[in-house]
Amino acid sequence: MSRTNQGIALTIRKVKKQYGQRQVLHEVDLQVKSGEFIAIVGQSGCGKSTLLRLLAGLERPTAGEILQNGQPLKKINGMARVMFQNPRLLPWKTVYGNVSLGARHIQTKEVKKAQILTLLDRVGLRTHADDWPATLSGGQQQRVALARALLSRPPLLLLDEPLGALDALTRMEMQQLILQLWQEHRFTALLVTHDVEEAVAMADRIILLRNGRVALNAPIPLPHPRQRSQPEFAQLVGEILSEVMNPASLAHQSLQRKDEPDELHQSEREIFSGQETDEIVRSLTARTFFDRIHFK
Ligand SMILES: Nc1ncnc2c1ncn2[C@@H]1O[C@H](COP(=O)(O)OP(=O)(O)OP(=O)(O)O)[C@@H](O)[C@H]1O
Ligand SMILES: [Mg+2]
Repeated sequence: MSRTNQGIALTIRKVKKQYGQRQVLHEVDLQVKSGEFIAIVGQSGCGKSTLLRLLAGLERPTAGEILQNGQPLKKINGMARVMFQNPRLLPWKTVYGNVSLGARHIQTKEVKKAQILTLLDRVGLRTHADDWPATLSGGQQQRVALARALLSRPPLLLLDEPLGALDALTRMEMQQLILQLWQEHRFTALLVTHDVEEAVAMADRIILLRNGRVALNAPIPLPHPRQRSQPEFAQLVGEILSEVMNPASLAHQSLQRKDEPDELHQSEREIFSGQETDEIVRSLTARTFFDRIHFK
C-alpha cells in the first residue's frame, strides 16, 4: 500500500471539560505533531476517553480550544476515525460489508472493491471477505474494525483501548499491525491504553493523565522495532508504571521533555496539590454517543 496522507497536527490549548459540577479535564495543554504516535495512560476515570471524545468533535470543551493544522475544531471531526475495545461490527454484514461502511467517500464501485480487498489483504483477512463476524476470533474482528477505520485514509486515528479484550499474543500481533500501518500511512495516532508496556512498545510519546491533567509527558526515544527484552525498554516501563500507580511520586527528570517546561511545571503543581481523587463512575450516555463516530 502506498504512502498517503500526512497526519494532522493537533494543538490542545487550555482545554477544560466539565459535566455539571464535575470538572473532568483541567486546562489540558498538548501539542501533537503531524504523524506522531501518542499513547495516553492513566487510571480509570482520569479523563482519557473524554479527551478522545473532544478530539473526535463529539463534544465541545467547556473552555479552551482544539486546533487541527491550525484550524479550530468546531464540529464532528471528519478527519478522525475511532476504534474501540469492542470492534462493533454489524452482525448482519459480512467482513467485506463491514469494511465497506468506511467507504462512503469512494465513488466508483470498482475502486471501492479494489481498496477494500487491498486493505483486507493488508490485515490478513482477504480469504475471510465473505465470512460473518460471528465466525471470526476477537483478534480477527478487531482487524476488520481496523480496516474499516483506515479505509478512508484518515489523517487522525483515535484508539480507545482497542486491544484491551485480546489475549497477550493476539494483542502483540495487533500492535505490530497497527504500527506497520501507521508507518505506511503516517496518520497521527492517539492510543488510550491501560497497558504501559503497550504504550512503550508503540508510542513516540506517552501522556499520563491524572485527574484530568497532564501529569507526565514522556518521549520514548527507542527506535522501532522495539525489543521488550532491552534494558532501556524495561526501565521506561518501570518508570512510567510507577508514575501511573503512585500519584505522590515526583515525575522522573529523565522522562520529561526538555522543550515543554510549562507541562513539567503543571505536573509538579498537580502532584503537590493533594487533590487526588479516583473516580470510576462511568457515563453510559456519553459512551453510547461516542460509539456512533466510526460510522460518520
Ligand atoms: N457525559 C458525562 N456526564 C457526566 N460525567 C461524565 C460524562 N462523561 C464522562 N464523565 C465522567 O468523567 C470522568 C472521566 O471519564 P472518562 O470516560 O473520560 O474516563 P477514562 O479515563 O476514559 O476511564 P476508563 O479508563 O475507565 O475508561 C468520569 O468520572 C466520568 O464519570
Ligand atoms: Mg475510557
